[in-house]
Amino acid sequence: MRTTLWKIVLSKKKQISVIEDIISSFSNDFMFREFYYLDQVSSTQDFALEITKSKGECFSPVVVISDIQTCGKGRKGKYWSSTEGGIWLSLILETALEPEKLFLFMMISALGVCETIEEETGLIPIIKWPNDVYINKRKTAGILLDVNTELGKIKDIVIGIGVNSNNELSHVVDDLAANNCDQKPVTTLKKELKQEILNSKFIGNLLLRMNRYLQEMDNMLFVESNIQNNYKKRILESNKHIVYAFKIGDYEFEGKIVDVAVDGSILVESPLAGKTLRISSVNEIL
Ligand code: BTN
Repeated sequence: MRTTLWKIVLSKKKQISVIEDIISSFSNDFMFREFYYLDQVSSTQDFALEITKSKGECFSPVVVISDIQTCGKGRKGKYWSSTEGGIWLSLILETALEPEKLFLFMMISALGVCETIEEETGLIPIIKWPNDVYINKRKTAGILLDVNTELGKIKDIVIGIGVNSNNELSHVVDDLAANNCDQKPVTTLKKELKQEILNSKFIGNLLLRMNRYLQEMDNMLFVESNIQNNYKKRILESNKHIVYAFKIGDYEFEGKIVDVAVDGSILVESPLAGKTLRISSVNEIL
């Protein structure tokens, strides 16, 4: 193991073998150099955001993983169930990006998760706009983005990724009920595959994909269209599996997504409304 090149913080010695498995396939151009692997934390996202407050100038991307989150955060302030067996991680990246480009990170994260699921399990996931990963009409993974901005630019970005992999489905359902959350359909990779997956292999594969996408981002023009096209393909495919419902003010309607722009806004065709609408805010999806 190339320990001299890496900073690794573990809460238990046994976790070293998991990290070894994760980084065993990485090459020298792998950008994630700092790993925190915790048994339990309130939220890897909050832990990562704390790290961004104290970091210095010379900063390499960081990975924070935890076996359990006691207070996992979902989008729109929702609770995210994170019992043992699932994959709960946050990535810290330093950028100097215009806020309009933020959605690119949503796209690469959702694509990275879908591609890893496909390769590791053979299951076919879809992306429900903007970035929920579904298998067989049930939510399997979710992504959360937090940013620190400075002088109108994004300074740090924290990408939180939660994958229901080997966690017990019944625990997710009980945990959501205990925390008064709406019971939307959920599933786990274990439930769909009828066997456990190797979380360390999944994380290694996911980080490799994220690394590749992030490095390609140097060639912005090509990558933007490439990422956007891959993402758009999956969103258009999702129309076949998901009924999209939106709410603008008091007006609720169902519709079909017909286009996605690079900023993540969508064009929705609504037979009920009899027109096509541009929707840019995730708050407008039900
Ligand atoms: C969603 O609502 O779909 C987003 C869920 C994101 C969950 C992940 S798990 C790792 C990271 N830490 C958190 O507290 N949340 C994100």
